[in-house]
Amino acid sequence: MILLRRRLLLIVLPLAVLLSLLLFRQVSETTYSVRQNSEDTSIASRLTDNRKEHGFTSSSLRVVHLDLKGAPPKISYLLQLLPLLAANGCTGLLIEYEDMFPYQGSLVNISAKNAYTQQQIIELVSWAQHLGLEVIPLIQTFGHMEFVLKLPEFRHLRELDTFPQEVCPRASGTLDLLQEMIRQVMGLHSRARYLHIGCDEVYHLAVCPRCTHSGRGGREIFTEHVTQVAELVKSEYPEVTPIIWDDMLRRWDPVYLSRSSLGVLVEPMVWAYSDNITRLVPHYLWYWYSKTFPRIWVAGAFKGANLPTSVLPDVRLHYNNQKSWLRFLARSNTDTKIAGYVLTGWSRYDHFAILCELLPPSIPSLLLNLILVSTQESDNIVLDMWKRTLKCGPRSKLTVDLMSSNHRPLALDCSFPGLKAFLVTSKYMSLKSKVDHFYKVVTEQKAWMTPYNVKYNFTSPYRVLEEYRLTEGYQLIKEIKRFRNETKDTFSEFFDDHTIEEWIEQRIVPMDEKLTYLETISNKLLLKRTWPRRPFS
Ligand SMILES: *[C@@H]1O[C@H](CO)[C@@H](O)[C@H](O)[C@H]1NC(C)=O
Ligand SMILES: *[C@@H]1O[C@H](CO)[C@@H](O)[C@H](O)[C@H]1NC(C)=O
Ligand SMILES: *[C@@H]1O[C@H](CO)[C@@H](O)[C@H](O)[C@H]1NC(C)=O
Ligand SMILES: *[C@@H]1O[C@H](CO)[C@@H](O)[C@H](O)[C@H]1NC(C)=O
Ligand SMILES: [Zn+2]
Repeated sequence: MILLRRRLLLIVLPLAVLLSLLLFRQVSETTYSVRQNSEDTSIASRLTDNRKEHGFTSSSLRVVHLDLKGAPPKISYLLQLLPLLAANGCTGLLIEYEDMFPYQGSLVNISAKNAYTQQQIIELVSWAQHLGLEVIPLIQTFGHMEFVLKLPEFRHLRELDTFPQEVCPRASGTLDLLQEMIRQVMGLHSRARYLHIGCDEVYHLAVCPRCTHSGRGGREIFTEHVTQVAELVKSEYPEVTPIIWDDMLRRWDPVYLSRSSLGVLVEPMVWAYSDNITRLVPHYLWYWYSKTFPRIWVAGAFKGANLPTSVLPDVRLHYNNQKSWLRFLARSNTDTKIAGYVLTGWSRYDHFAILCELLPPSIPSLLLNLILVSTQESDNIVLDMWKRTLKCGPRSKLTVDLMSSNHRPLALDCSFPGLKAFLVTSKYMSLKSKVDHFYKVVTEQKAWMTPYNVKYNFTSPYRVLEEYRLTEGYQLIKEIKRFRNETKDTFSEFFDDHTIEEWIEQRIVPMDEKLTYLETISNKLLLKRTWPRRPFS
């Protein structure tokens, strides 16, 4: 059986590559040529209108992802931000609440203690709808359910007890849990036309005894579960289309995929965040996706996709990610409609991770990518519109590469919601590199305060005092303490106290601790007045 399938694959795969190559024709340069002498630079006038019925057209949604599972902004900040997004071509929001949704009743413990209130969510959703944004809620229903399965009361629903990520689709209680989550979230999104049901990164699949004894493989169990959840959504909300992330389908035998029931039940959201997306989404895969699904969503990233501990987005990388997607979509000539283009902005890599890039300082990256995706104009025009929308003065230092480097401007002649947070974050990066450098010099490059010196209490007091320029250390400590207060003050416009404390603990406290350590050991080393003969032990 397996051998037979392999043989089939050997025939089918090269055929698929050939077919897809034939189907992808080069779109003439003029489609996205620069419109010259255009006085009107508003985004609305530049929205792509190539009158195609298929592919990525002006009727495809342009969606911004709000990942609220990390550093959820204050609702007041989000309300202020939405009109700016709408004015720059955004037509939808993909809202991933995770534990920030105010679950009730049997689900009450799923919510963070600082979750939004129902009233706040109603306010956010109605403001978005008023601005003409399609609101798409996201609920995890398979993998990435750490925020639920970490709790003792849901532990029995894990696929493997060691890993609180995936639910077991065959555990009794799983579907009831998912149904209740869906009901509660949909209760506050009565006008939603789409529901994203997650289903990415289901690493542990078909491995528990319940699943292995069923005699079915991973993709069969995956298909069954997604089908059940999608049918559950459709039976209660017939107007709602379920969306899933595509990554679990990528390695499937394309014939299996195209024959599965998923094509009529869900729409896939194909994510790829690198600057060469064909590595993740080769043309033959796209060919089979478009054979299977009449509509496909695509997703690039504007933050949270580079390094899980990043502080500011690598704007160049994300810009090139969008360019790679747009090139790819322009070449594709299938019947598939691109339902929407999503700009994801991850706030942590999963529920257990520390924070990565915050939203307010990432607004420049978000707007640059949004303008590019909305207008598909040339670099010069996109950059021009970017500076204008960020209200940058003529002498502004804003460039894509400067915004991608580790040394970002500490002053920026611009004005956008998030600027103050951007400046604080840039200052953090510069302070961190100062502290790290100082620490490395003192403990590694110089020979008098290394771990060996500390272990044997053996050093030259003169070197400790003079060479290490402890005055620099003392100055740095003071600067860090001032910076901690400045961060608190500035961030209070964007985040609640819990988020501010979390960021300070993850970013500022480690700097403080490094310097305090140096201060403590230098004080100890300086107490010594006589020293032992070598060898010490
Ligand atoms: C929520 O957690 C508390 C404390 O662990 C527990 O006493 C309570 O029963 C839980 N509530 C529900 C609905 O599970
Ligand atoms: C992107 O990756 C593919 C597959 O690895 C490779 O063939 C192609 O040359 C790359 N394109 C660019 C622009 O680097
Ligand atoms: C920081 O703020 C605290 C509390 O408001 C205050 O006691 C402290 O002196 C401030 N530290 C610096 C260095 O500004
Ligand atoms: C180093 O020497 C000082 C002065 O004798 C003493 O107070 C301190 O405890 C010693 N530290 C260690 C780590 O031995
Ligand atoms: Zn199982």
